[in-house]
Amino acid sequence: MKSMTQDELKTLVGQAALQYVVPGEIVGVGTGSTVNKFIDALATIKHSIVGAVSSSTASTARLQALGIPVFDANEVGELAVYIDGADEIDGRGYMIKGGGAALTREKIVAAQSRQFVCIADESKLVQTLGAFALPVEVIPMATQRLMRQFAAMGGVASVRMKDGAPLVTDNGQHLLDVTGLCISEPLAFESQVNQWPGVVTVGVFAHQKAQVCLLGTASGVRVIAY
Ligand code: 5RP
Repeated sequence: MKSMTQDELKTLVGQAALQYVVPGEIVGVGTGSTVNKFIDALATIKHSIVGAVSSSTASTARLQALGIPVFDANEVGELAVYIDGADEIDGRGYMIKGGGAALTREKIVAAQSRQFVCIADESKLVQTLGAFALPVEVIPMATQRLMRQFAAMGGVASVRMKDGAPLVTDNGQHLLDVTGLCISEPLAFESQVNQWPGVVTVGVFAHQKAQVCLLGTASGVRVIAY
């Protein structure tokens, strides 16, 4: 049998996530290429939901183009479920996120939701977080000091660039990508970095971890509950 491509695995888990969407409710929607597959699938059941709260301008544009109403997070209360991808997920449901630069709004919508359902292809499953460069959204005037703070813990931070200039997030801030970290205690690490002045959001999602991961594998969707 021909093995599935990474893109096909993303389609598979994007469609599988529909089972977690609660009819008559507003769904939290993440960002990224896997979530784009979910948004496309969500469009097929759009008449059964009220709409979505989105974690990025990119996801908002895709949702609206498909006729799915998008609500401001402040207009709605707690959401039943938040569906999003990850750059890495470990055996406890802790994740690294932010490869798509949307980590701050992703964490906000995740915090507003009762259940985080992570959708990912199997390449994202890791023993220990940190092989993927950790995204950290920062206030630009703190960049150099924060780079030194990461260096003191053995990391190498670089400013994410776009078209020759620092990438500007949806929130008007910059991003660091930090390599060389081995994040064996994600809860403690997230709490520690969150306290550094100038950090807007660290891309470790431990306090907002996944409760379920739908992992796309060669043999189908593997459901992991944490
Ligand atoms: C965006 C994210 C994404 O969920 C993460 O980067 C995974 O993206 P993809 O589904 O494209 O692999 O955190 O900020």
